[in-house]
Amino acid sequence: MREEPELITPRLILQPTVVTDAEELFAVYGDEEVMRFWDTPPLRNVAELREMLSWVLGAGKNDTSQMWSVRGVSPSNIFGMVSYHHLERWHHRADISFLFARRYWGKGVATEALTALIDYCFNRLLLHRLVALVDPANERSHKIVHRLGFRKEGVLVDHICNAGQYHTVILYGLVAGGEMAERGVVSGTDAANLTAQGAQNS
Ligand SMILES: CC(C)(COP(=O)(O)OP(=O)(O)OC[C@H]1O[C@@H](n2cnc3c(N)ncnc32)[C@H](O)[C@@H]1OP(=O)(O)O)[C@@H](O)C(=O)NCCC(=O)NCCS
Repeated sequence: MREEPELITPRLILQPTVVTDAEELFAVYGDEEVMRFWDTPPLRNVAELREMLSWVLGAGKNDTSQMWSVRGVSPSNIFGMVSYHHLERWHHRADISFLFARRYWGKGVATEALTALIDYCFNRLLLHRLVALVDPANERSHKIVHRLGFRKEGVLVDHICNAGQYHTVILYGLVAGGEMAERGVVSGTDAANLTAQGAQNS
């Protein structure tokens, strides 16, 4: 199983999540408003979250997903979490997701953390494509994925089942070297090769 590193940004430290983060992460997973568009109901208490994290980071862990707790540099409390999951090595792609405590919304911290995650996925894991699934009514998430350069690609009808209710989501994709590919100048693969050649030549 791969050990993922800490990721550092000007204001944040992204640390691989551990079970003892449950106390602080409960401000996220226990908040109905934060969890409104998630694919599970809010957790009822810290013990329930600890149990969930024990499973996700223990018996249920595989090398197709990784979760980071996002901490401030100072003070160093947890603001939220970002993750990749459904990593497909053969196809060089993964899904991403993110949750932040309400008191940290509107400060640019989610954008900063996700920029670091995307950079890690494209430049260290060498993925080619990232996907984000967003509830049609989740306005802040639509805004943030647009800000990060994701493009709306389609609608997945009844794609998510949360507590017996099916939910339709919007599919967003971000492709490495996608801007060049989009303009029809080169294919996505060519764009990635050109980027690699450029790095070698510089
Ligand atoms: C989705 C979510 C992470 C977005 O949070 P957010 O606060 O809107 O995003 P950011 O932290 O990047 O903040 C961006 C805002 O901070 C503002 N901002 C303030 N200071 C800033 C700074 N120093 N740098 C950048 N932006 C700053 C930006 O202008 C922007 O404001 P706007 O939304 O009015 O345009 C958050 O709402 C959340 O956790 N929601 C619940 C969970 C969820 O739905 N997850 C997604 C499932 S797909």
